[in-house]
Amino acid sequence: MLTADDNERLCQVGAGTPMGEVLRRYWVPAFPAGDLPEPDCPPIGLSVLGEELVAFRDSAGRLGVLDELCCHRGASLVYGRVEEGGLRCIYHGWKFDTAGRIVEMPNCVNPAVMERIRQQHYPVVEAGGLGWVYLGPPGTEPEFPRYPWMAAAPGELTVSELLYDCNWLQVQEGSLDSSHLGALHLDTLAATRPGRRRLGSFEFPGELWDPSARLPGGGTAEGNPSDDNAPRIVAEDTPFGFHYAAIRRTPDPSKVYVRVTALSFPYVAHIGGTGGAVIVVPRDDESCSFIGVFARRLPGAEPPADPASWRDRPWDPYPTRARALALPGQDRVAMAERKSFAGIRGGNRYQDAVVQGIGRRRRTYGRATEHLVPADAAIVRLRHLLVDSARRLEAGEAPHGLGNGYDYGQLQAASAVIDADQPWQALVPGNAGVAEVASDATTSTAGG
Ligand code: FES
Ligand SMILES: [Fe+2]
Repeated sequence: MLTADDNERLCQVGAGTPMGEVLRRYWVPAFPAGDLPEPDCPPIGLSVLGEELVAFRDSAGRLGVLDELCCHRGASLVYGRVEEGGLRCIYHGWKFDTAGRIVEMPNCVNPAVMERIRQQHYPVVEAGGLGWVYLGPPGTEPEFPRYPWMAAAPGELTVSELLYDCNWLQVQEGSLDSSHLGALHLDTLAATRPGRRRLGSFEFPGELWDPSARLPGGGTAEGNPSDDNAPRIVAEDTPFGFHYAAIRRTPDPSKVYVRVTALSFPYVAHIGGTGGAVIVVPRDDESCSFIGVFARRLPGAEPPADPASWRDRPWDPYPTRARALALPGQDRVAMAERKSFAGIRGGNRYQDAVVQGIGRRRRTYGRATEHLVPADAAIVRLRHLLVDSARRLEAGEAPHGLGNGYDYGQLQAASAVIDADQPWQALVPGNAGVAEVASDATTSTAGG
């Protein structure tokens, strides 16, 4: 549990707040690059870490990210024209290039003024189907993380984004939470078998839950080799942040089922078996983006569905708004008839969204009354690294997980049945884990 003050410190993302400063020291996966599909297409508005920004693609295809409000007299550049190498404000026509330089200033004939003023701009990299922005102090950018899935051809990458109406941390905690799979996502597990998998789908219909199956899904689900819902969690720090193993017993006592999740601190979680990443990005203190990137389809999978076919919509200057999550009602009949465990249709993301706070408009989870158990060890590790990074920054040191020369192309997640006496680290040698953290130290150290 955390005090209200500690929790606020942990959750706030704005400039000048302890965690806001930490979060600015990493490349932020800020928007799907497909939102800017071609040179000189309409710009988009972005909210990232409480900053209001505009992103555009210039005539040469380069991305630019600038402060949203024009440095002349504050018109929104989201309404600007993108033309001939720049973004032009529609108020008085000032035109900016991707580096924020003013290239035309129709209402001022003095060229010295043009030289002196610059629109605030941010470094941006396009990779893995996303636009990545750096909002930290100029010159402090860490090396850009080139994850294995970024090597996929663009056509093989599926990028989707949903906007969640709550603080980012409770969503990220859900991504690092192995022990909810066998409860909340029981319907999904029961329907998951070769040839029927709907990876990244938003259309999972809440298929029949086998009432005879033991948790989590047991009988019908090849690919779920364990019904152990109290995984042992072992975490290790790594150059990129941390990784952890969720270790489950199997019917064969000589074997264990291991899932290794690797968090490239603090936004990008790599989860075994998905071939991509799930990403949570704070928009402001009370909203965040949940982005899924999947590098390939699993054998037999159907093509992932796009939630709202947003590409076909008329221009929306804030495309993330089109992805605001509309939650389905809970199907109590299906629950009573034992056809569904949680009664939430739409698949994992919808089920996650309900419990992570959106269902009851719990914008920022207070954490004052929680009781953590050993299965929550990865969540404790996330909080610890955030809090300790803030302490380190305030002491003039580097925060955790900046890489320090680490080759992000080696980063791995895993999902496998192994011999019980085999070290799980052998599944993910590229992660360079160090300093194992005991899974029992959970209940008293959540904040530090
Ligand atoms: S406010 Fe943008 S050009 Fe005047
Ligand atoms: Fe989940």
